[in-house]
Amino acid sequence: MRTTILDIQKMKDRGERIPVITAYDYTSAQIADRAGVPMILVGDSLGMVVLGYSSTVPVTLDEMLHHTRAVVRGSQQSLVIGDLPFLTYASVAQAVASAGRMMQETGAQAVKLEGGAAVAPIIARLVELGIPVMGHIGFTPQSVNQIGTRVQGRQAEAAARMIADSMAIEAAGAFGIVLELIPAELAAAITARLRIPTIGIGAGVGCAGQVQVWHDLLGLYSDFAPRHAKRYASLADQIGAAVTAYASEVRDGTFPGVEHSATMPEDALRAALSPGAIGSRE
Ligand code: KIV
Repeated sequence: MRTTILDIQKMKDRGERIPVITAYDYTSAQIADRAGVPMILVGDSLGMVVLGYSSTVPVTLDEMLHHTRAVVRGSQQSLVIGDLPFLTYASVAQAVASAGRMMQETGAQAVKLEGGAAVAPIIARLVELGIPVMGHIGFTPQSVNQIGTRVQGRQAEAAARMIADSMAIEAAGAFGIVLELIPAELAAAITARLRIPTIGIGAGVGCAGQVQVWHDLLGLYSDFAPRHAKRYASLADQIGAAVTAYASEVRDGTFPGVEHSATMPEDALRAALSPGAIGSRE
């Protein structure tokens, strides 16, 4: 049985911190699911960490659908959230169409979208139609061309606006809200005011849960480590060493070994190679 948004709210109400991780394919979803992570986010960070774009702006709905389907196939227990990419929820009608495709064509159980009070009417309509929605405020990567990449809400006015945004999103019916790159004190204050869980990334320990990007957590880059991410492994180095060893063994003929190869009876080979047998099918 998959985790539901009701289970997530119960976790929050019991004071259990909620781990969330991003995943973008079948194999990583299977690993996250078996590790007991209750929510997997198929984030549009896909664009940067998997597809090699310089921001999340170019990510299309079709790309998100393709990867979300794989994550749903790879998971059995985790609640899967499909991110709605840039300009796929610019009006209520467009949001209904995009979120509808995400739910119907992928099997995801929820969608996520970025924005404050301005997107509350969109959230309200999706929720009314039976689509669970997670909000996302603070640093919102789809607005990178307007706000840059920096901590949001350090000044009183911006912090107060963010509190108001979080309350509007909760009032619209969202089941949770991502707080990205905001001061820890502000995240704790928002968390204390909301009934729904806050899920932080670069927002301190005072959130109801945390989300991390798969590649950051596993050290899948050798040269990039965002400050808000903790590396629990250095897989880029390990994978690099494994691929180098493989290439070297192919070059020197030690791979494949007999244990990786199939054999056939000697007389069958001899018969197959006899001149009569080779020409007989032509
Ligand atoms: O796209 C993403 O991975 C996200 C998380 C960083 C919250 O939105």
